[in-house]
Amino acid sequence: MTDIDFYIEGIQQLPAIVEKGKNAQEKFAETFMEFVRLGHLYESAIEVVKTYLNILDSEFNIKFQRNPIHNIDSRLKSAESIINKLRKKGLEVSPDSARKNLLDIAGIRVTCCYISDIYVLAEMLARRDDFIVIKQKDYIKNPKQSGYRSYHLIINVPVHLASKKVYAPVEIQIRTIAMDFWASLEHQLKYKPSAMITPEISEELKECAERIAETDMQMQKIYSQINGID
Ligand code: GTP
Ligand code: MG
Repeated sequence: MTDIDFYIEGIQQLPAIVEKGKNAQEKFAETFMEFVRLGHLYESAIEVVKTYLNILDSEFNIKFQRNPIHNIDSRLKSAESIINKLRKKGLEVSPDSARKNLLDIAGIRVTCCYISDIYVLAEMLARRDDFIVIKQKDYIKNPKQSGYRSYHLIINVPVHLASKKVYAPVEIQIRTIAMDFWASLEHQLKYKPSAMITPEISEELKECAERIAETDMQMQKIYSQINGID
């Protein structure tokens, strides 16, 4: 989604959350501007993290003639999704509440070649002294019930604006190409409104995840063998 779409969606959604009354117009303008500022802040936080990841990737390439990162994707949660999530959680619907309560407005997905690359990148991100790790979940060592595997980090990232430094949380999902293949298809299958996911199908999907995990480990072994790594 582009910035423009984000703000247009913001405009369309806002009337529903603006209190009715004499100052409705001012409140609308204020809330809208707050959404605009928030969008800019989160987009900037995404850029800070992406820049760092690209630097690590190219530095790794200079040292080892190989890129640990296969792809980086990012997204800003749409105003509609932000409002729906706040409503679902029974929280106040306002830019302030979104900022306080939602940690996945800014999202980055990094796909790596090997499992070991995931841990190197996660460690590098966590080590940066100006990044504050808020949450860290290793769904590779502890896969989810569904079979989902990924390394999740939520990091508070400093954004240097003209007049001040502001922190914004960014959710970073790091996984191998194989884990990403599974997660993308599983998400597509499960989140279709008409999807009939029986326990048997869930079990089959989980089996696929396990087979993929075995392949990932085998590829890691081959890589280590070829490169003389223990
Ligand atoms: P959310 O409120 O959905 O953000 O979940 P959470 O705060 O409990 O975090 P969690 O780490 O469980 O999941 C965050 C994100 O990971 C989700 O929004 C998905 O993008 C991804 N994810 C988690 N579980 C699954 C899964 O079973 N399948 C797929 N495809 N993705 C998943
Ligand atoms: Mg989420």
